[in-house]
Amino acid sequence: EDETDMIVRPPVVCVMGHVDHGKTSLLDKIRSSHVTTGEAGGITQHIGAYVVETSNGKITFLDTPGHEAFTSMRMRGAQSTDIAILVVAADDGVMPQTIEAINHAKAAGIEIIVAINKIDKESANIERVKQELIEYELVPEDWGGSTIFCPVSAHTGEGIDELLDMVSLTAEVLELKANPNRKARGIVLEAQLDKGRGPVATVLVQKGTLHVGDAVAIGSAHGKVRAMINDKGKRIKTAGPSTPVEILGLSEVPNAGEVMMVMDSEKEARSVAEKFIAYGREKMLSETKQQLSLDDLF
Ligand code: GTP
Ligand code: NA
Ligand code: MG
Repeated sequence: EDETDMIVRPPVVCVMGHVDHGKTSLLDKIRSSHVTTGEAGGITQHIGAYVVETSNGKITFLDTPGHEAFTSMRMRGAQSTDIAILVVAADDGVMPQTIEAINHAKAAGIEIIVAINKIDKESANIERVKQELIEYELVPEDWGGSTIFCPVSAHTGEGIDELLDMVSLTAEVLELKANPNRKARGIVLEAQLDKGRGPVATVLVQKGTLHVGDAVAIGSAHGKVRAMINDKGKRIKTAGPSTPVEILGLSEVPNAGEVMMVMDSEKEARSVAEKFIAYGREKMLSETKQQLSLDDLF
């Protein structure tokens, strides 16, 4: 890969934490949106992907569910991102899925920024949250550690600008780059069968640029990208690094977490998918590695 083709890409940030600690509310406030009000029972049950334009540039956020039933989504979230925002409610403190989220972020080797939320509440206790997190090696800078803590309120908006600044600063240090001038590689965040549109996959493009008309292989699914819809519901023709997009045109619904590869032709994409079905994931990947560079796959 030619270094000169590398450009700075937006950070991909996973918002994680215990159920109802305010992850979606925080993103709603950041986006001036109202996703929470539309959620059944107020519980997030899927990965939401949103691109936000801040004064420091674009940030791609993945909202994950906090309910204990959705471990794999939290894991997938952590695995596909650069930075985790760990949301801890200031009144509730560290809870089981807070700890689980910390473990996913650590396993994925991503930076953790702690957002202590709901500081507007009477019962908020910021110091207690900091104290509780020491046990998990998340120590604030003013206590001699290196973890960034941002007290915030998704309701009043207090602290949110500072949180976004900290995300941008952290991203700068990570020097996140990608080559937009190559075939796209991405990961499926979620996928379902839509009655009218057929298989729909929400893919996070990680490298390269995905184009309408590209031939793709995603696990046992293959196809030609018939249409792409961005996080604002707008039809788009291209999607660069760090962009989440819905893609239509697949032969079947792929598994969440599966890798999306762009191939030279639909025929080749079909052949890769058929190999995947015949040999399973491991063998298919080791066979395909002979034709593609390792970098194309992971
Ligand atoms: P799951 O996705 O289901 O895990 O929940 P979540 O972490 O996304 O929390 P959500 O945004 O659904 O908020 C849960 C509840 O906390 C809602 O009633 C929110 O109105 C409330 N809430 C969220 N942020 C704040 C805040 O900053 N202050 C106060 N007072 N309430 C908040
Ligand atoms: Na909730
Ligand atoms: Mg939520």
